[in-house]
Amino acid sequence: MPARLLVPIGFLIFIWSPSALLGQAADDLASSRQLYENQCARCHGIDGGGGEGPSLIGRQFSHAADDESLTRIIRNGIPGTAMPGAGWLDEDEAKFLANYVWTLASIEPVPVPGNQALGRILFEGKGECATCHIVNGLGTGLGPELSDIGARRDVRYLRRSLLNPGAVLPRGQLGPHSSFLIVKAEMQDGRTFRGMRVNEDAFVLLLRDQGGNYLTLVKSDTSALEREFGTSFMPDYNELMTEDEIVNLVAYMASLRGNR
Ligand code: HEC
Ligand code: HEC
Repeated sequence: MPARLLVPIGFLIFIWSPSALLGQAADDLASSRQLYENQCARCHGIDGGGGEGPSLIGRQFSHAADDESLTRIIRNGIPGTAMPGAGWLDEDEAKFLANYVWTLASIEPVPVPGNQALGRILFEGKGECATCHIVNGLGTGLGPELSDIGARRDVRYLRRSLLNPGAVLPRGQLGPHSSFLIVKAEMQDGRTFRGMRVNEDAFVLLLRDQGGNYLTLVKSDTSALEREFGTSFMPDYNELMTEDEIVNLVAYMASLRGNR
C-alpha cells in the first residue's frame, strides 16, 4: 500500500473511535506539559507557580490576551524584558504549548498571604528599601526598580531576594552588559575598588560602588579581578526582620504591578 494512504486511514480509525479520541486528548496534554517542563519550567516553576518569571496560574496575561499573542511571545519572547523567546519551536509546537499555558491560567490561584499595607510601611521605614530601590518614582536606584516587580517575579523569588540576596542576580538595567555582579579590582598601584559591574569589555571595566559613584578602570592597570558570585550590596533581611515582617514585605511587593 502506498505510504501516503496510511495517514488518512489512521485518521479514520481515530474519528470512529471515541475512546481513542479521549486517549489522544490525554496524550496531548501530557506531551504539551512535557514541552512546558523543558522550555518554561526553569523560570515559571514546574507547577506554573512562577520563580524568576511570574506565576502563570490564574492569570490574565498583560502581554497575551489570546492564542495568537501567546504563541507570538512563546516564540519571540517579550522584548526589553527577561522573557526569552523559544524561537526554535515552530508555529504548531508553540500553539500546542500555548494550550498547556491556558490550562495553567485557568487554575484558581492561592491568595498571597500577608498584609500589603504593613509591608509598605516596612519598605519605606524600617527596611530602608527605598534607599536602594525606586517604586513609582520615589526612592533612589542602586538596586533594580521595583514598580512592577509583582508582575515580573513570583512570591517565592521575592522571598528569596530578601533572605538570600545575591542568590539570583537580575539582569542590569543600565545597558546590555550591565549586571548586579560585584567585582573587586586590585590595581597595580595597590589601590582596591569594589562595585557592581555596569559594563565591561576586553579593555575597560565600569563599576558602580556602594555609594552610587561610577568608576572606570583600565584592565591593564589592574593586578587582580575577583568576581564575587552570590554576594550583593543588599542586606540579608533574615536577621533584620521577623518572619511576619518578611511575609508582609513580600505581600507588598507582589501587589506592585506598575500599569498592568
Ligand atoms: C529565562 C526565564 C524565562 C523563561 C525560560 C520563560 N519565561 Fe516567560 N517570562 C519570564 C519573565 C521574567 C517574564 C516577565 C516579563 C516582564 O513582563 O517583565 C515572563 C513573562 C511571561 C508571560 C507573560 C505574563 C503576562 O502577564 O503578560 C507568559 C505568558 C510567559 N512568560 C510564558 C512563558 C512560556 C510559555 C515559556 C516557555 C516557552 C516561558 N515563558 C519561558 C521569564 C521566562
Ligand atoms: C544597600 C542597597 C539595598 C537595600 C537597602 C535593599 N536592596 Fe534590594 N537589591 C539591591 C541590589 C543591588 C539588588 C540587585 C542584586 C541582588 O539581587 O542581590 C537588589 C535586588 C532586590 C530584589 C530583586 C529584584 C529583581 O528584579 O530580581 C528585590 C525584590 C529587592 N531587592 C527588594 C528589596 C526590599 C524589599 C528591600 C528592603 C527590605 C531591599 N531590597 C533593600 C540593593 C538593595
